[in-house]
Amino acid sequence: MPSKPLYVLNGPNLNLLGVREPDVYGRDSLADIEAACAARARGHGLAIDFRQTNHEGQLIDWLHEAREKAALVVFNPGAYTHTSIALRDAVAAIGVPVIEIHLSNPAAREEFRHVSHVAPVAKGVIAGFGAHSYVLAIDAAALLLNPAAPAGQ
Ligand code: DQA
Repeated sequence: MPSKPLYVLNGPNLNLLGVREPDVYGRDSLADIEAACAARARGHGLAIDFRQTNHEGQLIDWLHEAREKAALVVFNPGAYTHTSIALRDAVAAIGVPVIEIHLSNPAAREEFRHVSHVAPVAKGVIAGFGAHSYVLAIDAAALLLNPAAPAGQ
């Protein structure tokens, strides 16, 4: 298992989880999700560094930082998923695997959410499972970082 942490990076409006459109995004707050991720990661012998910002440039700076400091990035870019070539370029640049995640399933929502600029350069995408998308991404990260582990562990 790597000594570097997983970065879990969250983009715009995700600070409002729990109160923001709960029918779409659920009632868990971002702090609840952070606690669930930390517990799941601990079970895999991994540490997480969990962050949120409303600013595109900050996300780019954190992705660059991940180049040296993270084993892998779990990334919910929020609405920047559908608009940001700069985030896509940052993901492509860093050489660290990135798992794109969403609480909702953007493919089942408005047409403007059907495009992800990040997905083509991500290792994979997990979407549509509410807060569980994050926990599933932690499991996927553990699998990627320890591919020799038998399925089911
Ligand atoms: C989201 C989906 C995006 O389309 C939306 O803009 C968000 C949240 C999700 O987690 O479901 O802010 O990334």
